[in-house]
Order: sequence, then C-alpha cells, then structure tokens
Amino acid sequence: MLISNARWLTPGGYFEEGNMRIEDGRIARFGSKLEPKKNEDILDARGYLILPGMIDPHVHFREPGQVYKEGIRNGSKAALKGGVTTVLDMPNNRPPITTMKRWQEKAGRFAKKSLVNWGILFHATNKRHAIDSRVKSVKIFMARSSSLTSITDEALLTRLFEWYDRVSIHAEDESQFPVNPAEDLPHHERRPRKAIVSALQKIERSLKRLEPAKRPTVILCHANTSEEMQWARRMKNEGFALFVETAPHYLFFTQEDVQQAWPWLKVNPPIRTAQDQDALKQGLAENLIDFIGTDHAPHTQNEKRSAAPPSGIAGIEWVLPLMLNLIDQNLITWKQLHRLICAGAAKAYGIEHRDGIKEGNLADLVFIKRTTQATVNKKIVTKAGVNVYEHVGCCWQVEQTMVNGIVKYRKGKFINEEPGQAV
Ligand code: DOR
Ligand code: ZN
Ligand code: ZN
Repeated sequence: MLISNARWLTPGGYFEEGNMRIEDGRIARFGSKLEPKKNEDILDARGYLILPGMIDPHVHFREPGQVYKEGIRNGSKAALKGGVTTVLDMPNNRPPITTMKRWQEKAGRFAKKSLVNWGILFHATNKRHAIDSRVKSVKIFMARSSSLTSITDEALLTRLFEWYDRVSIHAEDESQFPVNPAEDLPHHERRPRKAIVSALQKIERSLKRLEPAKRPTVILCHANTSEEMQWARRMKNEGFALFVETAPHYLFFTQEDVQQAWPWLKVNPPIRTAQDQDALKQGLAENLIDFIGTDHAPHTQNEKRSAAPPSGIAGIEWVLPLMLNLIDQNLITWKQLHRLICAGAAKAYGIEHRDGIKEGNLADLVFIKRTTQATVNKKIVTKAGVNVYEHVGCCWQVEQTMVNGIVKYRKGKFINEEPGQAV
C-alpha cells in the first residue's frame, strides 16, 4: 500500500511530508518521489495528520470473567476509536491471572478477539511462578483489586523484586486505609495519600535491599500525587530503572469535580487536589512521566448508580484526542506527546518495532483531523456507556486507525476483523 500526501509525526517531534509505503504490515519506506507500483492500493492522506498508534499499557477489558462490563472484542473497538493500536491488559480478572494456565487461556482469547495488538500481565501472589517471556510484566496490587489479598508485606515485596525482572505496581498501601471509615468520609480520605507515601517507602526500601544488578524494572502505575512526582524525580536521579505512568483522569479532573460528578469519577487511586494535578503537569513538562495509560476500567451504568458504586473510569475511547488537547493547552510539545503515547511505554515494557513512525517499524498509524464540537462523533462504544470527558471539548478526531498495516477503523465504522498481534 502507498499512503500518498502523507504528513506524519516523527520521533523528533516535527512533521514530515511525502509518501509512505506499507509492506507486510510494516513501514517500508518514506519518500517524496515514491511512485505507486502496478496494482498497489493507494490511501490518500491529504488533510490528515498521521500519528503513531498509541500504546495503552493499562487497560481492564475484563475477559474472562466480566465480559458484561466490556470484553476483549468490544474493548479493542473502543481502543481503535481512541487511536490506540496496542493494549496491555491487567490481570485482576475473575478469577485473577495467577497461573500460566490462566494466562495461556486468556492469551488464546486475545489472539482470537482483539482487533488491536496486545500483551497480558501476570498477577503477583506470595508464590513464585515460572513465567515465560511473553508475560509483559507482573502486577503488584498493594491495595486489593481482585479476589486475592493485597501485597503490603515488605518482605514479600522484596522477594517479588528478586523473582521478577519487571513489575508494575498499584502503589496504595492498603494497611494505611482507615479501618472503620465514617459513612460520609469522601473517597479520597478513605484512600488517603499517606497510603501512597507508605507504598513508595516500601518499594524504595525493598529495591535498596537488592544489589543494583538484581533490581527489577519498576513501573509506577497511575501516579496521581505530588508526592509521587517528588519521589520519582529523586529515584530517577539516583539511577533506578523506574518508569512512571499517569492516567488522563488525573490531568483533567480534581477532587472537587469528583464530588460534582459522583459516582462517575470514583476511581482508585482517587483523583486529588489541584496542587497534585499541577505537580503531574510539571511532571509532564519535565519528562518525569514516561507514558499515559488510561486505566480503562469500565463498569455498567447500573453498577455505577448502585448504593456501593465500583471504582473505575472508562477512558480508552477518547484518549488520543485528550492527549492532543494537552498540546492545545501548551502543556506538552509534539515531541513529548510522541513519548507519552508510544515511545515511553515501548521502552518500559520492551515492546519492539512500535515506538513511532520509522522505517522498519510496524504500521500502527492513526489518522487525525481537527474538528469542531458539532461534528465530533458522540456514539459510545464502551459498555461503560458514559464519556466523562465530554465537556473537555476536544477539537481533534480520530478518523482512521491502522493496525499492522490494516485499516481497522474508519469514521465510526469497524471495517476489518483481522486480529492484532501479541507484542
Ligand atoms: O478504579 C480502579 N478500578 N482501580 C483499580 O485499581 C482497579 C480498577 C478496576 O479493575 O475496576
Ligand atoms: Zn491500579
Ligand atoms: Zn488499573
């Protein structure tokens, strides 16, 4: 295929123009003088900007176990609409992914059903497992997130760091949550910031107990406080292999919004103050935050409206326009966007050939256009059924999403069912 009249974002953060040849699912060549070959498909990209497909390294598609909340096929459709071409799925399924047998079974489902590329994490327990190289990372929940107890014991945390090369951590130390919270205690006080501080201290002490060469790569999931920014700055300066993720909801909402929009913005860790949000924005500016993960965690509207609403926000369907909104707000540059949407997560998780628009990389491409609120596509794909970002007024729209050289999504329609690849 030849993509003609293309204008694409380079890893350096500037735009290049010309034609782009896609061969065997890869970006084969760029060039202003590339001519179509005989019978070659041509995709005219005039009027679009082409961005690398986003890697969203933090999703909960909830299959197996809770397909009524999302499922792999539907979640991957929402991903395509949001400009996401690769997802890493979290292991807090029902039952959780704590054995390679369960991991394999889940991988079989993704291989069949996911329209985007995918990887699957493994759920840490107190037992050591021989995980194979296809496991993208081991998830450590320091607050309970499945039927299993949380990992708050520091000695166990240290052992997990010895056992596994890469860990992704939900860093809220549940032992610091109030035991019998008053009925009217707000969500962010039920899960206070001291729980995060305590988790960071345990992580740091556990890492320092090991010789540098024996320490795992640590991914701090969904950073949401100024304390995490300070900690990350120091740990990175000290040379730790630390990668930091934040989620869109922490950049677009504060604790006051949560009260207003209860229970739709109820999420763990909770959304915090304007000062915390400023610290995260500073973290973006300083490149302290390595990538964005949506923490796409859909629940049904009925569940959210119930007396005990579950935590979680669905975000994947709008994520790339939201990130582009950060550019419009002058909070990040195009170069930073590039790192936040693909190169950062590719590096953290060792995902090869998907770190941007380069010759030889896989052709995961998103074609975007400026739009007005009036023409924005309002149909919702996720089973969560709600777009908490509607008021943001994004003026970018994903018009086409290509995965491994195949256009899967075009203007509201899913046009190809070829599964994505394991990463
Ligand atoms: O709000 C959340 N929802 N936080 C988590 O850590 C898990 C997630 C879920 O699976 O619903
Ligand atoms: Zn989490
Ligand atoms: Zn999560």
